[in-house]
Amino acid sequence: MIYLLATNNPGKAKEIAPLFEEAGLRLISLADLGLSFEAREDGETFLANAMQKAWETAAFLRERGHLQVAVLADDSGLAIDALDGAPGVHSALFMGRDTPYPIRCNAILDMLQEQRTARFVCNLVCLFPDDTSLTAVGTIDGSIAYEIHGEGGFGYDPIFFYPPLGKTLAQLTKDEKNAVSHRGKAIKKMIGLIINADTCTQ
Ligand code: IMP
Repeated sequence: MIYLLATNNPGKAKEIAPLFEEAGLRLISLADLGLSFEAREDGETFLANAMQKAWETAAFLRERGHLQVAVLADDSGLAIDALDGAPGVHSALFMGRDTPYPIRCNAILDMLQEQRTARFVCNLVCLFPDDTSLTAVGTIDGSIAYEIHGEGGFGYDPIFFYPPLGKTLAQLTKDEKNAVSHRGKAIKKMIGLIINADTCTQ
């Protein structure tokens, strides 16, 4: 089976691809097929958005004759307790999709006082050619730092402080982040489900 990652976010692709590769699963991108597509994401939950991305991308691929591809979709975001869970499902659009992340991160730092607890959430959906699907969730709990730290990762990583390692996610290597992150956990669960489903059908 070929798995296609339905994202235009290079940060997500860099984290997901190596774990699929390590598990011996072939993961391609839309660009690998010479295609480009942006699914809508106007749902109320991470799961609804991941499902929407998976179904819309699968429909786009099927219309172009790619009938035997499983579509993997990720919807994720940062939920800050003091902001009632915002930016949450709107993390990608918070302050405008094209606003540079250092500006968005600094705006969040300005909004917070003592209460700084937060979590990242990642919902993954894998939609197969026979319309069956698998879902997996991962979360990471931490807090919003007082300053931006680190150059790695993407998005809000420089302000997400992970107490067990005493660093922000942007101060971790890709492997260190995948070992503890919402996405790393969701991908590992998804890979387990895929391998298990494959064994059951053999
Ligand atoms: P979406 O899943 O395409 O709606 O985008 C999720 C958004 O949440 C990203 O564009 C980032 O703003 C944020 N986000 C999700 N995961 C991470 C992460 O691992 N690090 C930093 N920001 C993230």
